[in-house]
Amino acid sequence: MTVRRWSGHLWRHRGTFLLVTLVTTLLLILWASQLLQHPRGRHIAPAVERIPYSKHVPTIIAPPTAHRGGGGQMPKLRPPRNPSEHPARRKRRHLPPVAFLKMSKTGGSTVQNILFRLGERESVTFAFPYYTYQFSYPRRFRAEFVDDLPAGSTQYDILCSHMRLDMGQLRQVMPLNTVYLSLLRDPVHTFESVFSYYMSTVPAFTLAQRAAASHSKSALHVFLEAPESFWDPAEPWNGLARNPMSFDLGLNNWGWNSSWAEDLARLDQKFQLIMVAEHFDESLVLLKDLLQLDLEELAYVRLNTRSAKDVVNLSEEMRARIRSWNSLDVLLYDFFLRAFWEKAERYGMNRLRREVAGLRAVVEGFRRRCLSREGVLPVELGDLIRPWQSDSATILGYELRGNLTDPEQETCLRLVLPELQYHSYLYFQQYGRDMRSVPEE
Ligand SMILES: *[C@@H]1O[C@H](CO)[C@@H](O)[C@H](O)[C@H]1NC(C)=O
Ligand SMILES: *[C@@H]1O[C@H](CO)[C@@H](O)[C@H](O)[C@H]1NC(C)=O
Ligand SMILES: *[C@@H]1O[C@H](CO)[C@@H](O)[C@H](O)[C@H]1NC(C)=O
Repeated sequence: MTVRRWSGHLWRHRGTFLLVTLVTTLLLILWASQLLQHPRGRHIAPAVERIPYSKHVPTIIAPPTAHRGGGGQMPKLRPPRNPSEHPARRKRRHLPPVAFLKMSKTGGSTVQNILFRLGERESVTFAFPYYTYQFSYPRRFRAEFVDDLPAGSTQYDILCSHMRLDMGQLRQVMPLNTVYLSLLRDPVHTFESVFSYYMSTVPAFTLAQRAAASHSKSALHVFLEAPESFWDPAEPWNGLARNPMSFDLGLNNWGWNSSWAEDLARLDQKFQLIMVAEHFDESLVLLKDLLQLDLEELAYVRLNTRSAKDVVNLSEEMRARIRSWNSLDVLLYDFFLRAFWEKAERYGMNRLRREVAGLRAVVEGFRRRCLSREGVLPVELGDLIRPWQSDSATILGYELRGNLTDPEQETCLRLVLPELQYHSYLYFQQYGRDMRSVPEE
């Protein structure tokens, strides 16, 4: 019988059969995981997909040229000439891949700077935007917004540029073992800061600013008296005008419904750590634990801070109005604040307090060693360390001591290096060319 002969045949060769099946499956898994990690270049036409969003974008700036050293008598930023020369050079170790969702005005530039320094030291591959330093914000993130893997790299190790999150798309870009991080801030302060920084960029705020010109009240005050009258939800840049943190997390930012709650629960599953700006040092200690860092690697100065004259002093009534206009962000913050303290409890509160004290001593040491002045006006800073200025707020910087040794100079410069300069420098290091600017429409 043919069937019997066949089954006998199969039985005799069952070992070979099993082996072939196993090898095929293994190859398929390998191929699929490669495809998952590097989906682009295979089936997507980048030229068509990479449509930048450039209307109102605060990315229309002179491209920074940190790698050429900026202007004036400012020190040059140069890569260490040999590895041992790097101030904090150490044996290469295995940092897990990291994706940091950098939100608008929650203090993310400071965390990004820490990740930039860490990544530079470890020579990681950054997932940089194809255009400029943001992933076509405020469009929802897409895998195609990421620039190609540089020659010789097999995966992206760190992604920390500004985006509006789409978790599914982000997971297509980053390896499977990526640690997902973000940083939230009290919604009242976040909104006040977003309003001040993006007054000329977010149409709803600009309208309020115009209306306020004929009043003696501040633009924020006028906006909060009747936010609905300035807010056209169909306008993409108005995403930041209400619940900006929910918007950046890719959630619906218009109003609560059951999908908002479901989406939030899903995000909670994906993020290993959501830090909290109000407990920044505690957050960094939890980050240190998660990524197995040293305290020295967490040294920071606050970047992208506004001049005090641009910070609106909020009355209790204005705070209440901000909370009610941004009620989803209030829910979001309360939810993740609880989750944060649960993580802290698990870490151990005494241990946390000890480590925070250690971190503060390290930070203080760096400030004493590196800085001669803090809160320096942009006109007094050289090109290399002058932060990018918003149209509506003055952003302050730092002045370095004049008597630093070369290795100190390298460490200290990176500590105060503003986002755009560091971003363009690392981009140049990775690709050997300048960041692309957003093409004219
Ligand atoms: C919740 O609101 C968003 C935005 O308006 C909408 O896209 C979504 O379908 C809504 N979900 C439910 C369950 O109503
Ligand atoms: C802000 O308000 C506080 C009281 O709440 C007051 O002491 C302070 O002087 C105010 N600052 C400015 C710049 O108006
Ligand atoms: C650098 O100058 C500061 C004062 O401007 C001084 O306190 C410090 O000791 C000097 N450092 C060195 C290494 O000379």
